[in-house]
Amino acid sequence: MPDMKIEINKKTQYGSYAKGWLIQDRKSLGELVLSSEEMSYITRQPDENQPVVLNRYTELILIVFSDLSKEDGAFQEHCRKKGNEIAAILRKENINQIDLTVNSENIKGIIALAEGLSLGSYQFNKYRSVASGTPWSLTQINFVGEPILQSQVNELSVLVQAVFIARDLVNEPASHLNSVKLSECFVALGASSGFESDIYHKDKIKALGMGGLIAVNQGSIDPPTFSVLTWKPANAKNLKPIILVGKGVVYDTGGLSLKPTKDSMDYMKCDMAGGAVVAAVLYFAAKCNLPLNLIALIPATDNRPDGNAYAPGDVIVMHNGKSVEVLNTDAEGRLILADALSLAKEYDPELVIDVATLTGSASMAIGHQGIVAMGNAGESLFGSLKKSGENTWERIVEFPLWDEYGELIKSDIADMKNVGSREAGAITAGKFLENFVDYKWIHLDIAGPAFLNAPDHYRPKGGTASGVRLLIDFLKQLI
Ligand code: BES
Ligand code: MN
Ligand code: ZN
Repeated sequence: MPDMKIEINKKTQYGSYAKGWLIQDRKSLGELVLSSEEMSYITRQPDENQPVVLNRYTELILIVFSDLSKEDGAFQEHCRKKGNEIAAILRKENINQIDLTVNSENIKGIIALAEGLSLGSYQFNKYRSVASGTPWSLTQINFVGEPILQSQVNELSVLVQAVFIARDLVNEPASHLNSVKLSECFVALGASSGFESDIYHKDKIKALGMGGLIAVNQGSIDPPTFSVLTWKPANAKNLKPIILVGKGVVYDTGGLSLKPTKDSMDYMKCDMAGGAVVAAVLYFAAKCNLPLNLIALIPATDNRPDGNAYAPGDVIVMHNGKSVEVLNTDAEGRLILADALSLAKEYDPELVIDVATLTGSASMAIGHQGIVAMGNAGESLFGSLKKSGENTWERIVEFPLWDEYGELIKSDIADMKNVGSREAGAITAGKFLENFVDYKWIHLDIAGPAFLNAPDHYRPKGGTASGVRLLIDFLKQLI
C-alpha cells in the first residue's frame, strides 16, 4: 500500500474550503457567481495562463482557463500541469482538500487536472522523523457535478494509488528493500488487490536454469527472487496472456565492472523501477477488474562485487540454453531479463512487454522526457502504444533493431556477448534481448524518465513511476 493516500470522491454538494474551476476563458466567468469587484480583479490579471486565486476568506476559489475544445494529449498534459500548480497553491495555503466542479464541457480536462493535482502532491516521508515536522499533504479531492461517472472517479483513484505504489518502491533504499523484501511487497500488493503471486526462490531459479539471474546474484549476500504475478479474471478478453516483464535490480553497483564516474551509483536504488511499474499495473488491473489475462514476471537481485561475484570473461548459460560471454558485469539487466523473456515463452503469450532501466544510452539519447521502445510487435501494436504515450504524456520513441546492430554483440567464444561498443548502446541491449523472444514483443527502456534529480511539474524528485500510466492506458485500448 502506498504510504500516502488521497481520497477521491464524487459529491453532490460543495463542502471544501477550496474550490477549483476549469473553464474556457474569461468570457465564461458567468458560470461562476462573482461580484463585480472579483470580475474586474480577474480581468486585471495579466496572464490568462496562471490559475487565478480568489480569497473570499470563507472560501478559496481557484480558476484555471484552458481551451476546452481540444481533448488531445497535449491538452490533457496542460491540465495535469495546471493541477500541479493548484497543488502548489494548496500547499502554500496549507489546505488539504478541494472540490472540483465538473460539467459536460470540462470533464476530460478536470479529470486530467485532478490527476496532476494528485500526482504532484506525492511525498515520500517514510524516513522523516517527527522532529522534522508534519509536512503538508493533500487528503481529499471531490468532484462536484453530474457528468462524471462513479467508475471514472474510482479508476482515477486506483491509478493514483498505483503510481504512488511504484514511486514508493523505487524510493525505498536498497538497505530496506532487498530482492526478498521486494517479492514480499508484491505478495502484499496481490493480497490487497486480488492478483495471485508465486515467488520462486534460489533453488527453483537454479533448477529452472536461469543462468543470468544466478550469475548476477553471485556477488550478493541476499538470494535472488523471481516473482510471478497473475491476474486471471473469468471474463478475460484474451485467451493467451499478456506478459509484463520488469527489471528488478534492487541496487546496481555495476558489480566487478564497478560503476566508474562520480555520483553514478547514487540513485541506483531505482534499478528495480521496471519491476515496480509492472507490479503496479497488475495492482490496477486487479483493483479495477480489467478483463484481461495478465502475468508479470520480475527477476530480482542486487548487483555487487564480491569474492564470488561473476566476472568479465565469464561464460554463462541462460534459461533458453544460449551461452553469453560476460564482458561487462554492469550490463546485468539484460541478463536477468533474458531469463524472464525465455520463461515467458512457456505461457504461450499473446504479447510480451518488458520494462527496464536498462541503459544510460537511452537516457543520453532522449533524457527524462520519453521512453525508448523497440521490438517486433508490429505497426498496429506500436501505434496503440504511441497513442497511449500521447494520452498519458509518457511518450514513446521507437528505435530500430536492424540486423547490422546484431554484429556488435557477436562473441568469439559464445553465442553472444553482453555488451557492444559505446555507440547505439540502447539498441545493442535490445538486440541482446531479441535473442530470447519468439513471440510478439515490445521492449521499453525507462532509464531516462524512471528517476528524477529535480521535480518536473507533477513528476517529483525521485521515483516517477514512468510507464505505469502508459501501460494502463495501453491495456485499456485492448479491451
Ligand atoms: N542500470 C543501468 C542503467 C541505468 C543508467 C539506469 C542510468 C538508470 C540510470 C544498467 O544496468 C547499466 O549499467 N547499463 C550500462 C550498460 C553498459 C555497461 C553496456 C550503461 O548503460 O552504461
Ligand atoms: Mn548496470
Ligand atoms: Zn542496471
